[in-house]
Amino acid sequence: MQASRHAGPATLPIGSDADLAWVRQQVRQTAAELGFGLVQQTKIVTAASELARNTLVHGGGGHVRITPLDAGQSHGLRLDFVDTGPGIRDLDQALTDGYTSGGGLGLGLSGAKRLVQEFEVDSRPGEGTTVTVTAWATVVPPSRTVP
Ligand SMILES: Nc1ncnc2c1ncn2[C@@H]1O[C@H](COP(=O)(O)OP(=O)(O)O)[C@@H](O)[C@H]1O
Ligand SMILES: [Mg+2]
Repeated sequence: MQASRHAGPATLPIGSDADLAWVRQQVRQTAAELGFGLVQQTKIVTAASELARNTLVHGGGGHVRITPLDAGQSHGLRLDFVDTGPGIRDLDQALTDGYTSGGGLGLGLSGAKRLVQEFEVDSRPGEGTTVTVTAWATVVPPSRTVP
């Protein structure tokens, strides 16, 4: 990891629907700056939207840390969604398509997992939940000039 010419890490609060909109916008902008294509931007924004909504609805609010990653040629985006809510007792169940503890479609967590390259949940009942996802921009090799 080295110093990046892109924006540094940022922490945004997740406490209202307006915050969700701002998170989506900032994730899209950061992904675009890092060279993510439109489809890749949409994937990470969709994942971020679901995870931020979970932080708000299930976690009772919290924050997201947005960290641009710069590994030489490869640019990535790491997002940590953090809350101090009730936690997830049964992670396998929570990651099952269609499972919801109430009112949702139950596709947020499982859907987000499919949209990113790296997905990790750290949750302790009674203490809170941190969901960390990382997506990498597809590196397009520079075209070679044939002498
Ligand atoms: N941050 C969180 N804190 C506590 N529980 C969570 C959190 N995120 C997800 N969950 C649990 O996992 C379940 C599945 O999440 P998700 O797939 O997004 O479905 P939905 O949000 O539609 O219920 C939720 O219903 C909830 O019980
Ligand atoms: Mg959800």
